Amino acid sequence: MTATPASAAINSARLDDHLNALGQIGRDEFGMQRVAFSRQDVAGRDYVSTLMRGAGMSVRIDPAGNIIGRVEGTDPGVPAIVLGSHTDTVPSGGAYDGALGVIAAIEVVEALRDAGHTPRHPIEVMVFTNEEGTSFHRWLLGSRAVAGLWEPEDFAALDDDGVTLTDTLPNIGGNMSRVEAARRRPEEFACYFELHIEQGPTLHRGGFPIGVVTGITGRSVYHVDIVGEANHAGTTPMALRRDAMSAAAQIALAVRRIAGEMEVCRVGTVGSMDVHPNAGNVIPGRVQMGVEFRDERMESLAAAEVELRRTAEEVGHAEQVAIAVTAQRNTPSVPISGNMQQLVADASEMAGLEHVSLPSGAGHDAQAIAAITPAAMVFVPSVGGISHAPAEFSTPEDCANGAQVLLNAVLLADER
Ligand code: GLV
Ligand code: MN
Ligand code: MN
Repeated sequence: MTATPASAAINSARLDDHLNALGQIGRDEFGMQRVAFSRQDVAGRDYVSTLMRGAGMSVRIDPAGNIIGRVEGTDPGVPAIVLGSHTDTVPSGGAYDGALGVIAAIEVVEALRDAGHTPRHPIEVMVFTNEEGTSFHRWLLGSRAVAGLWEPEDFAALDDDGVTLTDTLPNIGGNMSRVEAARRRPEEFACYFELHIEQGPTLHRGGFPIGVVTGITGRSVYHVDIVGEANHAGTTPMALRRDAMSAAAQIALAVRRIAGEMEVCRVGTVGSMDVHPNAGNVIPGRVQMGVEFRDERMESLAAAEVELRRTAEEVGHAEQVAIAVTAQRNTPSVPISGNMQQLVADASEMAGLEHVSLPSGAGHDAQAIAAITPAAMVFVPSVGGISHAPAEFSTPEDCANGAQVLLNAVLLADER
């Protein structure tokens, strides 16, 4: 006897309402400002916790500050199907990155309740702490705690004002002294699904409603500290300067060249720079910059690092400045298993939606959770391929399609 797959439908108006409501929390004229641990982040977390309770979930906060909503299944003792993403944003970010995955996961639970269908497996919805890593420069913080992937630097993390993560975790209900208890055992989870906007141009350009993610990019991050000599901008002859900004500019162009012209790795970015003393009539004495490279092949990231260090030495010598390159993090790329990709493809077909396979150039909580359970990702189009910016947008129809695929994936996983 073959069982007919259960069916349930996303309520697209409710999904859109909830997404828009979350998109108003922490919004200002420059975009979304729900940086992890901020007052705005806390308000966003409160909103989704309320939605979870309204959807009939029990809600708890683990010691890493992750919000975990749960509904029980019909079968006792079976592991949970986990859905998750994040509600923190980059500074002046968009309203869909992370938010869609969380709101859609809650909608999946509501839609199952509307359909009167209780799956065999419990469902857990996880809202992970500090995915973006804007605070404390430690990304995927909550999901890595769940996967047991914290490093010594996470325990000792300081933000830019010197405040410790230990003192900050309680702001969101976490507790450093118990943080290891956030770790979950593989036996507790059946599998993990994350719906996310693509954040790049492929789906929108190609007219595909659904992307099946094949793997998630690796990323390496460096802190570059350049120390020259501050001096008078009007009186110091050009030949006698030790200008930290001149050196920084050359390194920024080298990062672009390493990924661009040289094609050592897929992308390279200098996204942050601190200039001291940052005054128009003073030659900068010190510049600190954040550099990152991304690629699916870890050997390409290693080659990019070699090139970055070689350039730093060359520029330091030429400009008579001291340049220290410190590796901050090296996040491995993560492949998605063929079985899990097939499940997302089947879930798309069940919804009558065309799909295409593609890698993720952005990082996601799924890449940490994949260490303890089979994980898969569903992508929907980002209009114009814009993300980490206020113009980030995905149409209500695309968001609803993605949520339906997420729901179908849960139904299929529940049967298999
Ligand atoms: C996370 O959003 C990333 O930077 O990829
Ligand atoms: Mn995200
Ligand atoms: Mn992001």
